Amino acid sequence: MSFKPLVFSGVQPTGNLHLGNYLGAIRKFVALQESHDCIYCVVDMHSLTATLVHEDLPDQTRAIAAAFIAAGIDPKKHIVFNQARVMQHAELTWVFNCVARMGWLNRMTQFKEKAGKDRENASVGLFTYPDLMAADILVYRATHVPVGDDQKQHLELTRDIAQKFNNDFSKRIADLGVGVEMAVGEEKVNGFFPLTEPLIGGVATRVMSLRDGSKKMSKSDPSDLSRINLTDDADMIAKKIKKAKTDPEPLPSEIAGLKDRPEAENLVGIYAALADTTKEKVVAEFAGRQFSAFKPALADLAVDKLAPLASEMRRLMADPAHIDGILKDGGERARVLAEATMKTVRRIVGLLDD
Ligand code: TYM
Repeated sequence: MSFKPLVFSGVQPTGNLHLGNYLGAIRKFVALQESHDCIYCVVDMHSLTATLVHEDLPDQTRAIAAAFIAAGIDPKKHIVFNQARVMQHAELTWVFNCVARMGWLNRMTQFKEKAGKDRENASVGLFTYPDLMAADILVYRATHVPVGDDQKQHLELTRDIAQKFNNDFSKRIADLGVGVEMAVGEEKVNGFFPLTEPLIGGVATRVMSLRDGSKKMSKSDPSDLSRINLTDDADMIAKKIKKAKTDPEPLPSEIAGLKDRPEAENLVGIYAALADTTKEKVVAEFAGRQFSAFKPALADLAVDKLAPLASEMRRLMADPAHIDGILKDGGERARVLAEATMKTVRRIVGLLDD
């Protein structure tokens, strides 16, 4: 027996969803439905690490669920829910808080970035956030996680936690007969948790800010001009692309010519991702053209791809009860799976053995 392939991923309901979230994550979620069983989660408990008092959290949670569905995720065939409905995520986090080492969490670059200089004043929740993320994934014993490049380190930590849990409790896992055989390097070992694989491929694993090609496009950037929100209308999308930072050179004919031109490379990457093609083909098509010609083509393409998504999101958001119904149904189905894992985890760690 080996682990059954299962996809899990999550998106935080903090701020507006942007093109980076769409190209780096949500679009991949949609594609994976064809080949895998998938669980997609609006990770509302994670949002408390950003803003504790968060009056519009329920609506932001619905907006992410609406984006999932508008993008084409089928909540009947797969599972769409919000994290707070399945308390087993929090329960497993506690176990993982006891498995993960301070040194591991101290190395997390996102914590360092988000906590800034005033680390003493950062919440403990922000520090242990990666343990909750590991629990999100492993409470379903998910094998594959589609994410953007910025989540890579958190997924490495998830594997470290799974591996330490499997090692520390190897005897209990064997005695209870709940291990699954898996390959770790050359070796075959028995473990309860899989060593989850990140799915980070594609041209848009790291979409950069439109104002600064060295920073990633982010919900928390104070400048709204830095990102294209999924809810922006056609005029706003065109305006933001027109104002996007570029350099004075025309587009090169080969991608080698994009070296040291981060803003140009980013726009070419966005075009390639939206057109479902490669950067090579985009530069071949626009070779020698100025940005004044490329930007309107990019704006038209972006409007073409994003406007139907935005209008479907608006339609869904007009019926919050319908979205709540989907999240509740998904939560119930997710809870059954999560409880089955936790029942065994409680026995493995010796908390409850009935
Ligand atoms: P979050 O909510 O910040 O982002 C959601 C997804 O969007 C991707 N992403 C990007 N991809 C490309 N370019 C960008 N500029 C860009 N910005 C964001 C992110 O990589 C992510 O895939 N910790 C996670 C949420 C989470 C999670 C999980 C993910 C919680 N539990 C379990 C996977 C599995 C986060 O804050 O993502």
